[in-house]
Amino acid sequence: MTLRGGRSPCYPAGMKMPWQIWRDRRGRLSWLRIATLALLIMPVGIAIHAYATAGFGARPLNDMIHRAGYWALIFLLASLAVTPLRRVARFGNLIDVRRMIGVAAFFYIAVHLSLYIADQSFSLTKVASEIVLRLYLTIGFVALLGLAVLAATSTDAMVKRLGGMNWRRLHQIVYAIGLLALIHYFQQTKADVSVPVFVSGLFIWLMGYRLIAWWRRGAGELSTVLLLALSVAVALLVFAGEAVGVSIAYRVSPWIILKSNFDFTYDIRPGWYVLAAGLAVAALDIARSRFAAGARRIAPQPSPERA
Ligand code: HEM
Repeated sequence: MTLRGGRSPCYPAGMKMPWQIWRDRRGRLSWLRIATLALLIMPVGIAIHAYATAGFGARPLNDMIHRAGYWALIFLLASLAVTPLRRVARFGNLIDVRRMIGVAAFFYIAVHLSLYIADQSFSLTKVASEIVLRLYLTIGFVALLGLAVLAATSTDAMVKRLGGMNWRRLHQIVYAIGLLALIHYFQQTKADVSVPVFVSGLFIWLMGYRLIAWWRRGAGELSTVLLLALSVAVALLVFAGEAVGVSIAYRVSPWIILKSNFDFTYDIRPGWYVLAAGLAVAALDIARSRFAAGARRIAPQPSPERA
């Protein structure tokens, strides 16, 4: 039975129902949640637009498998970016959408697997044998199992049941899942590794941030200088890693690859994008501290009678 406005009698006024994901914990309409929801649905819109304008090519199922896998990975990284972003931007409310983003990553990966099953003509024996025989699928499968565990334990009831500390420990497997997903991504990439290299750079930055925060625990937020140093170090690692990887794969000198990073005629190499993303975070940190300092300067002085 529902009350007027679709409210169930077990949910008193002001309390949100579980499916009302656009409302915050207090049941208020949340623009942050609505914007996040729109972003999470965006890949579906992009896919529909691509299908309507150019079609999905000769192997539509394969195209959709790639799309779903790609967005699952992006949302997995986005969920990992919530902690650094909320700290740097001093925007604590961002935590409210982390669970939503993580569950969306699982949703897209479930679609990824379902499409793969469809691509194998729904033969579960074929799917199982492929997963066992092909290393990149085995790795993807382990990552998927990990994501399923995280999604299943993402409810408030499970947090309570496991206890905060155990829940946090369990959810640290997300770092291993991210790594496995990237290996899976690289292994199935046939020629141009630019996007996997870029995404890996972002993952390394996110892990680097956590490592530094853990190492300096109790010493407050990372300073702008540390954020800049982290971003430059990760970008250099990406330049070097790509040069070594490509030189091994194609038997060319790594110096040629390194030099090509400064040739912008045809493309911009992923290391530069990683650097730009890191610098954007550092810029956000500078803007946030300027804004905070400005706000302090213009803050009204307490009147003598209130002081
Ligand atoms: C049972 C688990 C999984 C299966 C069977 C599977 C299967 C596949 C297949 C068949 C491809 C396309 C390969 C090709 O065309 O040669 C692919 C690509 C991909 N998968 Fe998975 N996958 C699994 C799990 C995952 C997980 C957990 C993630 C990430 C969270 C992931 C992310 C990706 C990505 C990013 C791509 C490449 C997308 C692109 O090219 O843009 N997959 N996967």
